[in-house]
Amino acid sequence: KRIREARCSSTEAAAAALKEQQASSSEEVPAPKTDTRKKTFSEVLAERLEQAQRTVLIDCPSKINEKKFLKYMSSHGNIKNHFFYESYGTYAVVEFSEKDSIASLQGVTGNPQFKDECPVPFVSRIFTLTLKNPPSQASNQTPVHCHRLSTVPLGELIRKLCDANSVSDQLHMLTEEYQLTEENTKLRFLTCSLIQDIAGAYFPNCTMKPFGSSVNTFGKLGCDLDMFLDLDEIGKSTTRRKTGPFNLEYKMKRVPSERIATQRILYVIGEFIDNFGPGCVGVQKILNARCPLVRFSHQPSGFQCDLTANNRIAMRSSELLYIYGSLDPRVRALVFSVRCWARAHGITSSIPGSWITNFSLTMMVLFFLQKKTPPIIPALDHLKELADVQDKQVIEGHDCTFVSDLNKIQPTGNTQSLDVLLGDFFEYFGNFAFNKYSLNIRKGKEQGKPETSPLHIQNPFEQSLNISKNVNAMQLERFVSLARESAWILQQDKGPSSTSGQPWGMAALLPALTANNASKGARKKRRTASERIKGLLDSLKINNPSNGGKPFST
Ligand code: CTP
Ligand code: MG
Repeated sequence: KRIREARCSSTEAAAAALKEQQASSSEEVPAPKTDTRKKTFSEVLAERLEQAQRTVLIDCPSKINEKKFLKYMSSHGNIKNHFFYESYGTYAVVEFSEKDSIASLQGVTGNPQFKDECPVPFVSRIFTLTLKNPPSQASNQTPVHCHRLSTVPLGELIRKLCDANSVSDQLHMLTEEYQLTEENTKLRFLTCSLIQDIAGAYFPNCTMKPFGSSVNTFGKLGCDLDMFLDLDEIGKSTTRRKTGPFNLEYKMKRVPSERIATQRILYVIGEFIDNFGPGCVGVQKILNARCPLVRFSHQPSGFQCDLTANNRIAMRSSELLYIYGSLDPRVRALVFSVRCWARAHGITSSIPGSWITNFSLTMMVLFFLQKKTPPIIPALDHLKELADVQDKQVIEGHDCTFVSDLNKIQPTGNTQSLDVLLGDFFEYFGNFAFNKYSLNIRKGKEQGKPETSPLHIQNPFEQSLNISKNVNAMQLERFVSLARESAWILQQDKGPSSTSGQPWGMAALLPALTANNASKGARKKRRTASERIKGLLDSLKINNPSNGGKPFST
């Protein structure tokens, strides 16, 4: 989340290279125009994971002759795609057509030499590229065009939204601004693939898969990177080898539970990442959590990573969200907008606590869309009815079966516009009987609360769990009162035709804090705080003249 704003201007060379890149990336379009079939989640994942395996990351000078750089890299194989971005330096993501090109590149790569330190000799796919003779080469170098990896500031977003034609336009515009770009998604898969290389030192057949908002279609630029270490392929290969009259199994160490096995695996991988992972810093092993994880910051990509293992249900819930997000464009537009609204008002936070999470908010929007007449998205039970044999999945005793082929799901007959839906959402949850009911995505209906948590959203797969158990009464109240206020603002709204120049529609629901106002506000706050302290010290002087006017006797 600490990715700095890209700032490089594009140059003629970069533009030419970019044109070349676009031409070459157009090769990538796999399907003929007539094929309107939507890809399944597994297909998207498999395609991107394979692509990431053919990709390298290069820390390069911020000014570089892009054409020469590409020519140099091309000597190791055909380059399918590339782009630059900034994160603690300038980086290039280079995707080769063939995986073998990486071995060729590694074949000409040396170990770094440090003056007072020693390198840990771990060979990875992150390289550092420097100019051989910087002073003489400097004049040929130009700043590269860096791809933007973070969202526009809120003030700028509000200004943009004011230029839209309708609330519906505003919500689509906001989604365009906030959603993960193609490049950002590529970088997420590459980061997983780089961490997979580390885990692969222990488990050669493992796969590191992104889950959560990186892949569920609701990811916002700058969101964390949730990754899941999948060791299942290893298990599968053991079953396959049961041949002839014998059973053949690996001899393996035993531990008392699956949880302990997961903790041990994450412990050693966490140690490896900490000690040898290039650019991995701030590694924390949070092994006693309900879902054990290793958290770290991957500096080359700028992503905050949460690495879990044995977390198949979360993977399944990411697929469910992917399906909902792909069914109707209104779903993502509403989720993005509600999440943006909640973040701007401090209803959600990047710090874990008793606030509503993005995941819970997404579920609330989905539930609201299931409750519409006719429903805009189907209940999970309906998706289960559409499932075929291959879709059947029971994980740890929980039924996680639902259709994977999006093309089998009938589009909704509901044509309500987002102008209406946004207002309805706030009104619906501004008046929802949270004290009585739980939200059930599986049934698409509210049901009696099984326990007393202020907000109860049933986990669709582990049905005895409440995904919003962390939320306290005060945070829920803040959400409800803001939802009511927002519903009221939208009801009064005069739309884009208003001549007052005031923010309207979605823009009127966001706190109008521009960068300037924000820093003025901060200055004002600081001044009042220091004035308060001065006043306090003065009052101590007055109340205690015996210590010679000193506020505190030493
Ligand atoms: N998850 C879950 N139950 C929870 C919290 C999380 O099943 N109580 C799963 C969900 O699949 C979720 C994923 O873990 O998508 C990652 O959690 P988190 O990073 O908190 O949410 P994201 O959906 O990734 O949203 P964000 O953009 O805030 O990271
Ligand atoms: Mg996440």
